[in-house]
Amino acid sequence: MTILSVYQQALQSVGIGAVDSFSIHQLLQFHNQMKDVNTLLTHLDQTMKNVESFNRDFSRLKKGEPVAYILGFTSFLGMTLKVNTTVLIPRQETEELVLKAIQLFPSVNKINVVDVGTGSGAIALAIKSRMPHWHVMGTDISQPALKIAKTNANHLHLDISLRHGDGLGFLETKLNHTIHLIISNPPYVANEQQLDPFVKQYEPRLALIANPNTQFYEQYLKEGKRLLAPKGMFAFEIDPSLVSPLQNMTKTMYPSATWTFLKDINGKTRFALLYT
Ligand SMILES: C[S@@+](CC[C@H](N)C(=O)[O-])C[C@H]1O[C@@H](n2cnc3c(N)ncnc32)[C@H](O)[C@@H]1O
Repeated sequence: MTILSVYQQALQSVGIGAVDSFSIHQLLQFHNQMKDVNTLLTHLDQTMKNVESFNRDFSRLKKGEPVAYILGFTSFLGMTLKVNTTVLIPRQETEELVLKAIQLFPSVNKINVVDVGTGSGAIALAIKSRMPHWHVMGTDISQPALKIAKTNANHLHLDISLRHGDGLGFLETKLNHTIHLIISNPPYVANEQQLDPFVKQYEPRLALIANPNTQFYEQYLKEGKRLLAPKGMFAFEIDPSLVSPLQNMTKTMYPSATWTFLKDINGKTRFALLYT
C-alpha cells in the first residue's frame, strides 16, 4: 500500500475537510520516519510504513485530539518541543510575541528576562536560543509543566533557569529592580464555555482559565513592580478585548508608563507591551 492510498483512505473515512489535512500529513510523516512534510509530499508513491500504528493515531485524531499530543511534540520557532496534556500546545501567536518582544526591547546588553507561566518552556527557550547572552528564567505554578520545560531545555542544550511558584511574588527580594523584561502568555479565558470544545477537552484548564479574564495581568503587573529594573518592560499576549481593561489597570499602578498594542498576522490586537 502506498502512502498516497493510505492518505486517500484516511480522508474518505472522515470526509474531506473534517480533519485538518496538515495534521494527517504530520502523522504520515512521523510514521514513515521522514524528516519533514515536504519529503512526505514528494514520496507519496512509496510503500507506507507502520500502517497499524498510523491507524491507531489516526483514530485519536478523528476524535479531535490535537496532533501535538498524539505525537508528543510540536514545533515552535523552529525548535522541536516535547508536549503532553500538562502543558498548553504553544500557538503561532506566541511565536509572534517572542519575535516582537526581542525586536522591540531596546537592549543588546546582557539583560534578565522572566517568562511567567512558561508551560512547555516555549517562550523562555525561544528567547534564549535567539539571545544567548540574555539570562532567562521560566516560572510556572504547575510542577508537571516545569518537568516538560526542563526536558525541553536539556534536549535543546539551552541554559535557562526554571522556578516553581505562583506568579512573581515568590521571587526573592535580591531580585528587586533586576528584571528587564517580564514576558507572559497568561491564562485569559473567563469561562470554559468560551473555549473550543477540543481545547476544553484536551488542554489543561490551569493554562487557560482566568476569573476575571484580567486576573493574571493584574497579578503579574502588581507583583512585577518591585522586580522591574528602570526602563523595564512587560510583554503580554492578550485577547483583543483586554486593551481598555489593561489601560485602566495601570493608570494608578504605573502612572508614567505607556502601552503599545500590536496586531498579529491575522490583524487582531494580540500583543501588549508596557514600557515603564
Ligand atoms: C496560556 S499557558 C502559556 C504556556 C506557555 N508560556 C505558552 O505560551 O505556550 C499559561 C501558563 O501559566 C501557568 N499558570 C497558571 N497560573 C499560574 C500562576 N498563578 N503562576 C504562574 N504560572 C501560572 C499555567 O500552568 C500555564 O503553563
